[in-house]
Amino acid sequence: MARHLITSAIPYINGIKHLGNLVGSQLPADLYARYLRGRGHEVLFLCATDEHGTPAELAAAKAGKPVAAYCAEMWQVQKDLADGFRLSFDHFGRSSSEQNRKLTQHLAVKLHENGLIEEVTEKQVYSKADGRFLPDRYIEGTCPNCGYEKARGDQCENCTKQLDPTDLIAPRSAISGSTELEVRETKHLYLRQSKMRGKLDGWIDSKTDWPVLTTSIAKKWLHDEGGLRDRGITRDLDWGIPVQFEGAPWSGMEGKVFYVWFDAPIEYIACGAEWAEAHALDDAAWERWWRTDKGAENVRYTQFMGKDNVPFHTLSFPATLIGSGEPWKLVDYIKSFNYLTYDGGQFSTSQGRGVFMDQALEILPADYWRWWLLSHAPEGGDAEFTWDNFQMNVNKDLADVLGNFVSRVTKFCRSKFGEAVPEGGETGPREDALIADLATRIRAYEAHMEAIDIRKAAAELRAIWVEGNEYLQAAAPWATYKESPEQAAAQIRLALNLVRLYAVLSAPFIPDTAARMLAAMQTQDAGWPGDVAEALAHLPAGHAFTVPDVLFAKITDDQREDWQARFAGVRA
Ligand code: 2FM
Ligand code: ZN
Repeated sequence: MARHLITSAIPYINGIKHLGNLVGSQLPADLYARYLRGRGHEVLFLCATDEHGTPAELAAAKAGKPVAAYCAEMWQVQKDLADGFRLSFDHFGRSSSEQNRKLTQHLAVKLHENGLIEEVTEKQVYSKADGRFLPDRYIEGTCPNCGYEKARGDQCENCTKQLDPTDLIAPRSAISGSTELEVRETKHLYLRQSKMRGKLDGWIDSKTDWPVLTTSIAKKWLHDEGGLRDRGITRDLDWGIPVQFEGAPWSGMEGKVFYVWFDAPIEYIACGAEWAEAHALDDAAWERWWRTDKGAENVRYTQFMGKDNVPFHTLSFPATLIGSGEPWKLVDYIKSFNYLTYDGGQFSTSQGRGVFMDQALEILPADYWRWWLLSHAPEGGDAEFTWDNFQMNVNKDLADVLGNFVSRVTKFCRSKFGEAVPEGGETGPREDALIADLATRIRAYEAHMEAIDIRKAAAELRAIWVEGNEYLQAAAPWATYKESPEQAAAQIRLALNLVRLYAVLSAPFIPDTAARMLAAMQTQDAGWPGDVAEALAHLPAGHAFTVPDVLFAKITDDQREDWQARFAGVRA
């Protein structure tokens, strides 16, 4: 039994996330957390909303609400949707929390004490039309790296290069669209990341088991010119964590807040403190996850994120933690994802293109989405969502294979033996062969889950379901019954036990259905299978069960066409 700390990239507060966002961090993180809990490990799974910076300010302004009220409302919306998708966070925090304010300010002071903060008077874009400095996303323009015309002031969405607003070519105000911009002087704090290049390089080199996608992005930003330059960690904004506070080792920083990408990852830690507070626990409770001097040296920490987030997690955030000189837990493994595309194009929040989390749950239960998204996780490259493929996979994997198995077994038993596990008869070579096959497949499934090879794990789970169907087809208890009711009883006893075993194995992917299967088998025992033969003898003869309602309804052609048309356009 080990201790696993798991975080998912924290979603921006502005607006409801689409399915591409969901499969790019929160959902796979949940899969992993559920799997590890299922194996009996101690897990702390944290996520939060990323509430500061320009995205929140712009969205609140658009909604005509004070930004604090807007964030509180949207946190609840995102929390409800996370619950709807059964994301099993131990805590869903807020980067605007008091805990994060304190910790962010504390870490900035530590960095200052270690000579890693520099006060820089810099030239910054000021908009006369808007009467304010324009940080980050308040500016749009052309990316100097790749020429993309809608690059934001902090990062180019197209080539993922981290930018400073003054890097943009042909800049314009994102508030008013005004190009009447001028450059004025203002003072900011810089994190001297460049002084930590050697340490970060060594640390990344020690991560020999990281996926290529993660390491290659980290190395690129570490070594390419400008990759690890010193970065401004403060902004001229109202909404955020104040830079000037009591005891701050600098002055004249009134009216400035920390840059959102400085405080957002710190919220991973602060979220632990929020979790402890929410459960009336003391500081030691969260520190044993986060401080290597207080127990976290035995923790394995895994982060989940989209590939655009990798530079911040491999360089900027570790630079903050290492630079503090304090014993904070650093990430052990980063699982990063490519993008999910939608029906021949991109999912787009700004254009409202694709299926968003709220819409998805309006049309189908969470498990349908969880299964499709996870079994198509954009791991090796981008993946594409199409309605045809969604319909085909749901109907085949969930309805025809898993759903049908459960339905045939339970209904046949009810009609011939009643609603209890039948007694009598003995299993033979066919069952031994099935058990051997399942044992091999279950160990492979575990290995894929442990390696967080999500598509491979899904494929193995599907194969495990298929084994059951093939067994049923070959054993044909309905035919056996005519000759030897005893032998049919033994076959069905095994098959009913398979229903329970499938529930246990499938729970990380489809938790609601797994719970229904366990409920139908009238057992609470979701213990992970060690010995497969034992696991398949778990429900004894005489154990009562019920026939569950249809587990998965097939998606009809009419539904598919209807949804395809409904989500083709722009979201209102
Ligand atoms: O890309 C995003 O959605 C960011 N809000 C992720 C932040 S992750 C971390 F740094 F907190
Ligand atoms: Zn670019």
